[in-house]
Order: sequence, then C-alpha cells, then structure tokens
Amino acid sequence: MGKIILFYIIFYAALIGFFAALLAVFYQTLDMKKPKWQLDKSVIGTNPGLGFRPMPPLIDVESTLIRYKYDNRGNIQYWKEQLDDFLSIYKAKKDGNRTNVESCIQGVSPAKDKVCELIIDASWKPCLPEYFYSFNSSKKGPCIFLKLNKIYGWIPEYYNSSSMPKNMPPDLQEHIRELEKNYSIHGSSEMPNVLKTVWVSCEGENPGDMENIGPVIYFPQRGFGGQYFPFLNQDNYLSPLVAVSFESPTRGVTINIECKAWAKNIYHDRVDRRGSVHFELMVDY
Ligand SMILES: *[C@@H]1O[C@H](CO)[C@@H](O)[C@H](O)[C@H]1NC(C)=O
Ligand SMILES: *[C@@H]1O[C@H](CO)[C@@H](O)[C@H](O)[C@H]1NC(C)=O
Ligand SMILES: *[C@@H]1O[C@H](CO)[C@@H](O)[C@H](O)[C@H]1NC(C)=O
Ligand SMILES: *[C@@H]1O[C@H](CO)[C@@H](O)[C@H](O)[C@H]1NC(C)=O
Repeated sequence: MGKIILFYIIFYAALIGFFAALLAVFYQTLDMKKPKWQLDKSVIGTNPGLGFRPMPPLIDVESTLIRYKYDNRGNIQYWKEQLDDFLSIYKAKKDGNRTNVESCIQGVSPAKDKVCELIIDASWKPCLPEYFYSFNSSKKGPCIFLKLNKIYGWIPEYYNSSSMPKNMPPDLQEHIRELEKNYSIHGSSEMPNVLKTVWVSCEGENPGDMENIGPVIYFPQRGFGGQYFPFLNQDNYLSPLVAVSFESPTRGVTINIECKAWAKNIYHDRVDRRGSVHFELMVDY
C-alpha cells in the first residue's frame, strides 16, 4: 500500500516537472508584445473582420437583432449601457503614462511606438451618450458603432478613383471621386491624405431592406483613418471606430443590414463574414 502511494507521488511529481519544463521552453520562444506568427503565417490571417456594437443580450448567442421601442426607457437603457461600457476606454484619459499619444494628421501614421489620439467629441453628435446615441429619438434611428478587428502589422492598401471595384456602392464611389477632386494637389500623382482611409458602407441586404434602411450618415467620417494603422501592440493603442447613424429607418419592420469595410486588401465573404458584418434593426412604434 505504502509503495503504491510512493509510486504515484513520484510519478506525478515527475509528470508535473516535465510539463513545467516544456512550458518554460515554450515561453522562452514567445515575445509578449509581438505575435510569433504574423499576417499570412497566422491562423487569423490578413483579412480583418468588422464588428458592431451594441450587441444583443448574450442569452441569445445567435441573435444579431437590435430591437427597441424608442419611448420605453427600460427598453433603450440596455442598449445605451452596452455602448457606454464599450466606449468607456475612449473617454479622454489623463491617468497612466500617455507620453506616446499624439494628435495625428488624417492618413499619416505616427512614428514607431507612438499612437494617435482618439476622442469621441462633440463632432460625433448625435452618436453620444448625452443624446442617448439617438435611441430615444422619435424620428431618427439609432447610432451603431463599427470596429475593424485588430490584426498585428496589417497595413491597408487604399483605393483611388481609378482603382475602385465595380461592386463598391455608387455613393461611396462618388464620395471618393469628390474627395480626390477636392484634395489632389495639381500636377502631383501623390495620393491625398484624406483618401488614406479604410472606407465603410452600410446597406440593406435585400430590395425591401434597401427601401427601408433610409439615409445613413457616418461619424466622424466615412471610414477608419489610415493614421491608426498598423497596429503593433503599442501602449495606449485604441482601434478606430465609425458611428453609423440611421437617419430614418422604416419603423415596425426588421431591416437586414450589411456593413462592409473597403480597402484593396480586404476581401468580402458573406458566408464567412469576412470584411463585413451583418445585423438586423427593428425600431418599434
Ligand atoms: C513614460 O514612457 C516613456 C517611454 O514610453 C518613458 O520615457 C517615460 O519616462 C515614462 N514616464 C513616466 C512618468 O513613467
Ligand atoms: C433623449 O435623451 C436625452 C438625454 O436624456 C435628452 O436630452 C433628449 O431630449 C432626449 N430626446 C428625445 C427625442 O426624447
Ligand atoms: C490610382 O492608383 C494607381 C495604382 O494603384 C495608380 O497607377 C494611378 O495613377 C492612381 N490614379 C490616380 C488618379 O491617382
Ligand atoms: C468638395 O468640394 C465641393 C465644393 O467646394 C463641396 O461642395 C463638396 O462637399 C466637397 N466634397 C467633399 C466630399 O468634401
């Protein structure tokens, strides 16, 4: 009996020791700031996904339906709190070591180890907590926030007016053409900084949805500014956001919405939901 117990004590001690040694070797090969496998070599790959907030309650994991009644406080409080939580890291912060945070020029990445300041200020109105992110409006629809998933080292390849794909929404194409016309320096072939943007579009998925979605406005601009790329796990890094304001969605119907991110190196796949995100919106009377 004593021998058996002794055997097991030694056996497990050896096992634990062996495992700890392997783990130690494994940690030796890791860099805490840099992933070992990057871009093409990693499982996550090079194609960023899009995410939306606020998310429906977790009880219903499969659900992507944002449904509420604008004049029911209890109803809209849930969505406001979800956004308050999500955006709390974007509040102007003063604590911690923020010596590497800079205000940047649109489209111009800061020096290595520096990051661009990102503050949700009054220009995002009405996509602000003070305005209930528009969830309480009797006329307008809500603000939904989009975020591009972080991929270490990923650098967008930007579109210009002559390289836009045919399936890009016509209003986005027109927007890019107009910006290029307004900001190109005459005689220069250099891309204007305003075009160094990962563009965003949100559309109704089916003909009925296209009719019901109504006008859409994007804050602070129609995409993610190029100055926020690449993500290199810098201290104080915050992912860029776009707030999508649905100006007058049809009430009382479910609207299927697909938002896409646009850069030459973002591929769209509806099944895999790559480079795009789907949700449904229903504003009750
Ligand atoms: C903040 O970090 C920088 C390097 O990122 C360092 O040089 C500086 O001393 C730090 N300041 C404080 C107050 O810790
Ligand atoms: C929405 O809520 C905000 C904050 O409570 C309030 O100032 C605003 O008047 C409300 N808007 C409507 C349309 O009820
Ligand atoms: C657009 O970009 C392509 C390269 O992708 C370049 O050859 C072309 O000159 C650019 N067109 C304009 C109008 O800047
Ligand atoms: C381009 O300039 C025109 C005329 O100044 C202006 O009306 C338009 O809004 C500008 N477009 C963009 C996208 O800035």
